[in-house]
Amino acid sequence: MTTLLTTEPLRLGGALLLSGSWLALCLNMWRAHRTSASADAAPADWLVVHASQTGGAEHLAQRSAQLLATGGLAARAVCMSALDRERLAASPRILFVASTYGEGDAPDTAARFAGRLMEAGVDPGLDLSRLHYAVLALGDKCYANYCGFGRALDAWLAQQGATRLFDRIDVDRGDAHALAEWQHHVGRLAGTSDAPDWDAPAYGEWRIVARTLENPGSAGAPLYRIALRPAAGALPAWEAGDLAQVSPPADPDHPREYSIASVPDEGRLELLVRLQQREDGSPGAASGWLCTGAGEADVVRLRLRMHERFRLGDNARRPLVAIGNGSGLAGLRGLLKTRIDAGRHDNWLLFGERNAAHDFLLREELEAWRAKGQLAHLDLAFSRDQDERRYVQDVLRAQAGRLREWVGRGAAIYVCGSLQGMAGGVHEALGAILGASQLDALAVDGRYRRDVY
Ligand SMILES: Cc1cc2nc3c(=O)[nH]c(=O)nc-3n(C[C@H](O)[C@H](O)[C@H](O)COP(=O)(O)OP(=O)(O)OC[C@H]3O[C@@H](n4cnc5c(N)ncnc54)[C@H](O)[C@@H]3O)c2cc1C
Ligand SMILES: Cc1cc2nc3c(=O)[nH]c(=O)nc-3n(C[C@H](O)[C@H](O)[C@H](O)COP(=O)(O)O)c2cc1C
Repeated sequence: MTTLLTTEPLRLGGALLLSGSWLALCLNMWRAHRTSASADAAPADWLVVHASQTGGAEHLAQRSAQLLATGGLAARAVCMSALDRERLAASPRILFVASTYGEGDAPDTAARFAGRLMEAGVDPGLDLSRLHYAVLALGDKCYANYCGFGRALDAWLAQQGATRLFDRIDVDRGDAHALAEWQHHVGRLAGTSDAPDWDAPAYGEWRIVARTLENPGSAGAPLYRIALRPAAGALPAWEAGDLAQVSPPADPDHPREYSIASVPDEGRLELLVRLQQREDGSPGAASGWLCTGAGEADVVRLRLRMHERFRLGDNARRPLVAIGNGSGLAGLRGLLKTRIDAGRHDNWLLFGERNAAHDFLLREELEAWRAKGQLAHLDLAFSRDQDERRYVQDVLRAQAGRLREWVGRGAAIYVCGSLQGMAGGVHEALGAILGASQLDALAVDGRYRRDVY
């Protein structure tokens, strides 16, 4: 009995201890399960949606997704063309990185989203009250409608009932302070505040090795073919469609973009640069420097910029319809040269300028490609060679049957050159020939791509 009396509390204590440990074990297992369950749910948790024309917003979206990932959140960067009503309504958290094009418009990749969803105004059937979001709006204060698309997107999301994680951040020409602010917010969401600032890639030092005036006697501004090589070291890699950014000495913080006209195998980087004249008669900062200012001994500060959306990508396997005017021939020439070097001859070029006698850029090369069948068709529109003005979009309309046939065979359409006049006119002509919905579908499938400025 005594034994009983003395051993019983011990047993009881032991049992309590055991049950306590068991409970603690269960609690820990439950906690661990909860943590891993929320980690499993994370992949669907964060989207970083980009609306980009020349890749800047896309690049920032990818960096933002990586930053979220460093905090253990699985986030994915996706193009706005992949975002529909259902996905939007089902998403709990989205970061948007949106640039603005045209005159306050959406970039091409976001045109369908903007057209179908935003332009319809407030949609009472679309409940976004589940969604928490933030907008990084890229733009340029030189334009009247600064960050127009990013602002419109932000306002529309709020009207649909979505909740801002933090206020929209507007970025003027890649302003580093605004980007650091965005990075700080995203870092906070990820729970990591110590990531180093995102730096823009450094400029390389290049030298001009050849420069020729391509349109002597032209009624338009002079246009130069300019070849550059790195001042030291090997030529870096790029792909047709990519851009070169030049930092002009007179305005070093504001780089200007140029389409690359050559391919790396040619051993030099070539640009087609139109010498801009400002209203007061002074030359443009970058075009003036490249076309007339910089001498052989001068260093040109330049960096390459991948332009994923204007590369050939999957379209390398499709027939190509290349449409452009003026210096836009630069981007198209790079694409055509790549295809011709790879043995593809299903290339159709439609090119427009003013007068054949002065403005038939790269004439020898284009005529040789045509003669050898490397260009299946070469259609030219010299607007001032006849009484009535005739532009590249008019030639396109005249070739409507062939265009339908090429698109029917799976062709991709690439447009490069001026936004004013050419790109709008070509877009209208394409819409009239193919129908708006087919043109929309081509854009979404990456078979209609534009590098227009
Ligand atoms: C994707 C893309 C591809 C391009 N490809 C080509 C090409 O292949 N060939 C070609 O000739 N051109 C091309 N351009 C145009 C080119 O980038 C320049 O705009 C053009 O050469 C005129 O620049 P500039 O410095 O000579 O003229 P500037 O008159 O000095 O500047 C041109 C513009 O930059 C802005 N700007 C100037 N100074 C400032 C400032 N201090 N602060 C803020 N903004 C300022 C203004 O909007 C001005 O209209 C392309 C443009 C883009 C966007
Ligand atoms: C042809 C053209 C039109 C543009 N229109 C506008 C505009 O209306 N408003 C604006 O704020 N920025 C405008 N921009 C500036 C772009 O939004 C800005 O350069 C942005 O960083 C580009 O991002 P992306 O590389 O993702 O396309 C325009 C740029 C170009 C080349």
